[in-house]
Amino acid sequence: MSTTQCTTPAQLRYRTMIDDYWYKNAIIYSLDLETFMDGNGDGVGDFRGLSERLDYLHGLGVDVIWLAPFQPTPNRDNGYDISDYYGVDPRHGSGGDFAEFMHLANDRGMKVIIDLVINHTSDQHPWFQQARQGEDNPYHDWYVWSKEKPEDAEEGIIFPGVQERTWTYDRKAQKYYFHRFYEFQPDLNMGNPAVREELHRVVGYYLSLGVAGFRVDAVPFVLETQVPGGLDNVKIRFEILEDLRQFLSWRRGDAVLLGEANVDPKQAKKYFGDGGGLHMMFNFYVNQFLFHALASKDTGPLRKALEQTRMDLPMAQWGHFLRNHDELDLGRLSEEQRQLVFEHFGPKKEMQLYDRGIRRRLAPMLSDRPQIELAYSLMFSLPGTPVMRYGDELGMGDDLSLKERDAVRTPMQWSEDSNAGFSSASTKDLVHPLIDKGPYAFRLLNVEEQMRRDDSLLNWTKRMVRLRKECPEIGYGEWELVDTGQPAVLGIRYRFRGKIVLILHNLSDEPLVVELKKKPETACRLIDLREVVALAPEKDGTHLVRLGSLGYRWFRLKEVRD
Ligand code: NOJ
Repeated sequence: MSTTQCTTPAQLRYRTMIDDYWYKNAIIYSLDLETFMDGNGDGVGDFRGLSERLDYLHGLGVDVIWLAPFQPTPNRDNGYDISDYYGVDPRHGSGGDFAEFMHLANDRGMKVIIDLVINHTSDQHPWFQQARQGEDNPYHDWYVWSKEKPEDAEEGIIFPGVQERTWTYDRKAQKYYFHRFYEFQPDLNMGNPAVREELHRVVGYYLSLGVAGFRVDAVPFVLETQVPGGLDNVKIRFEILEDLRQFLSWRRGDAVLLGEANVDPKQAKKYFGDGGGLHMMFNFYVNQFLFHALASKDTGPLRKALEQTRMDLPMAQWGHFLRNHDELDLGRLSEEQRQLVFEHFGPKKEMQLYDRGIRRRLAPMLSDRPQIELAYSLMFSLPGTPVMRYGDELGMGDDLSLKERDAVRTPMQWSEDSNAGFSSASTKDLVHPLIDKGPYAFRLLNVEEQMRRDDSLLNWTKRMVRLRKECPEIGYGEWELVDTGQPAVLGIRYRFRGKIVLILHNLSDEPLVVELKKKPETACRLIDLREVVALAPEKDGTHLVRLGSLGYRWFRLKEVRD
């Protein structure tokens, strides 16, 4: 039998010949300094604490740390309200602590990307305080103003139920200012070249300190035109993205832009800018259909979502994730689909947020280990780069008594010691309360305990991280969905440089057998990548692959020799 039957012929088009696109085979880990590790005992996480925990992240297999905003801030939106782009909030340490952290991370081969929050500043930022002085002040045009109250001042709200308007009156300026998000986050006027120049300076500053890229906050809103009464005719100025990309690439050729842009898949290519825009975007679309698939046990809509977000630009890459620091946004599902996901994963009103999402952590949502493993394995197997959320590797819980999205922002549970080993401060001084009751309490669920137990979720995750990294086919290769003949089973096949990987996930509670009757499988043995098992085809070439309830199997194909 010829080798070309189960390997990719050399002449087949590769998506890329270049391995330098490091972000395509990386594991990204997102954390908020505030709640990760407190190094100086004041109850708030900081750079010193994080630096102490770098070996943990390295051991987990993390390649890239994505840091949430750490700059000076009144902290009314988890740091997404910055009052000085060039500093470190004193609660998190000093510029020196940041530089030391960068050195230690890079020393371990880990890259760091940081949030770039350029849609808005804090209302306490000196730029805004200057801007309020009036039209003669040079900073006035750095923000978006209207003399009259715009007709749509109560529209375009991002946080329904909490935010009341998008234009707020400022008594000092005697005008209304625009804010896509909360009223303490005035939008910067990206139409002003001076603003764009300053933001490039911010990017240049952090690149010079060694960061490998940026998670660009709220991209569509950064690009949109903002004029009073203009919400219906918003234009997206992609040239802002192109400029940013050019500047970035000139300063540091391998730096990346990872965009937060929950957009219609038809728009995605424009954000990737045919290679001249974002390098990466979070795949919010697939994320929602993934949860829908877990709830409905039907992979049909997820398969469609994957095809709709297929991206063939060589440099473009999706970031796949399960949960992040915000709500699980289900806004792109149909009403019926959304209700189904609510029913399964967030049935109580207190679990839901902003009329569109769920404010729970992964583990309590999915409730048991097989579901969690299935979801994680599925996420790791999708065409793109996995982005993990701190604490999800342990199966940490949430605290619904906290407001809005704070429910999923409780301190990392390091050990059973006081304050979960997170801080030596008095418990009342902790930045967010710890989870100390119920099945997710830190005394039961923590890093130290799970490190020692071979069958813990943490050790399982470590093995999955390693497996994902050992399959560059996923990050770099071409993919196709496999016809499994079973709606509950997602099959996906990757090809890269002569190698083929096949991954199957059974979303149903019933064990089942998948029949694979086509090439390349019929010409190959299936080498199980998680067990010492190799499946040979039947005489007629068919493969009968058994999958347990909620089962998942990862294979590499190997030619059958006669
Ligand atoms: C998106 C961030 O993910 C979210 O946490 C924040 O509230 C908004 N942007 C406003 O910055």
